[in-house]
Amino acid sequence: MSYYEIQGGRPLYGTLAIHGAKNSVLPILAACLLTSGQSVIHNCPDLTDVSATLDILRLLGCRVERKGDTVTVDATAPERWSIPECLMREMRSSVIFLGALLARLGTAELSYPGGCELGSRPIDLHLAALRSLGADILEEQGALCCRCCREGLRGREICLSIPSVGATENIMLAACGCPGVTTIIGAAQEPEIIDLQSFLQAMGARVSGAGTANLSIEGGLPLHPAEFRVMGDRIAAATYLCGAAAATGEVEITSISPDALTAVLTCLEEAGCQIHTGPDRVVLTSSRPLHGISPVRTAPYPGFPTDAQAILMAALSGGEGATLFVENIFDSRYRHVDELRRMGADIQLAGRAAMVSGVGRLHGAAVRSTDLRGGAALVVAGLGAEGTTQVSELRHIRRGYQDLDKNLRALGADIREIP
Ligand code: EPZ
Repeated sequence: MSYYEIQGGRPLYGTLAIHGAKNSVLPILAACLLTSGQSVIHNCPDLTDVSATLDILRLLGCRVERKGDTVTVDATAPERWSIPECLMREMRSSVIFLGALLARLGTAELSYPGGCELGSRPIDLHLAALRSLGADILEEQGALCCRCCREGLRGREICLSIPSVGATENIMLAACGCPGVTTIIGAAQEPEIIDLQSFLQAMGARVSGAGTANLSIEGGLPLHPAEFRVMGDRIAAATYLCGAAAATGEVEITSISPDALTAVLTCLEEAGCQIHTGPDRVVLTSSRPLHGISPVRTAPYPGFPTDAQAILMAALSGGEGATLFVENIFDSRYRHVDELRRMGADIQLAGRAAMVSGVGRLHGAAVRSTDLRGGAALVVAGLGAEGTTQVSELRHIRRGYQDLDKNLRALGADIREIP
């Protein structure tokens, strides 16, 4: 089983163009199903979650090709509407295909997406919303059998009790196939929702309000394939910035809107980094140990992103001073803490709270990725640690980071993959 070997303490210097956003491209690829013809998606990152999504599209009968970071999806003749359990288990966010399949084919079958490393991952909001649009959904022996009711899908007002990203996206896709207007009250406001809206608009859909809590979709309109460039990955960008904060140095990340990272940049500035921004770039300079900051409470956008919790924690663990983290989005998103403790981190857990006391500098250790962002956090910790860190279970990291070790080496880090 291969692992990263990191010799810590090397400052990072240089510029990196960040890859396309995993959490934007996944729903956009599912949206290609909404219409016949060939859509072209640029800046599509090479990630295992993306490969799994392309495999699902092929299984459903789409012709899919990749040339570099451009993917073409021809959804002229989908032949299937069921996604097998093996693929659903590989990536729980495949639940996003529900809305697209219902809109295009009026039917969908998939196995219940299991929980994951972050705890239970219910989809009750997805199912309640799709039922209110007119889908009959049977849940039996772990499978979901979804059909449009006899009267077909109809647009209507939907209130979300939680601004769920996935549920918002599923409703947007299903609503494109619902004659009438669907209004989402309490929608997720993440930048990835705006990217999905832009792609749907390019397909001819009448969608508005993304980035606010109230989204509107006029469904039942004829759609056509589109060519689109996916936004930069803000969480991957935050990862490299936290790496530079931990290791010190000066790093510029391009192809990213700093507006999508405000909450993270505010924390890094408070911790002692200098931040300069341009319309599509962020420059971080760090010259001394990070210090403790005011409490970091994860929240729906524009609050502090839960996906950046572990990576910021890793950077602050090797600094000085204390910081309280509160994880408000997922039930179990502190699995990286035990691994950081093996590197000397002083972190006390109490339910959703984690009190991090900076120890001045972490030391290298053999650690194991527990999930996607937890694994990236261990790399961030290793970059600033004294000595050698080995990070195993790289399959988690490959889900969301393209060429992580190669990019870090280009910035001056001593990191290599040991087969
Ligand atoms: C998306 O997951 C992202 N994944 C996650 O990124 C991200 O952490 C999350 O949004 C929050 O920002 C993708 O976009 C592929 P939610 P999603 O529905 O849609 C509860 C990463 O590291 N909930 O916004 O699954 C849920 O349990 C990944 O890139 C219900 O209770 O997240 C959670 O507590 C990890 N019922 C909260 O809402 C539902 O029906 C937010 O989840 C749906 C969600």
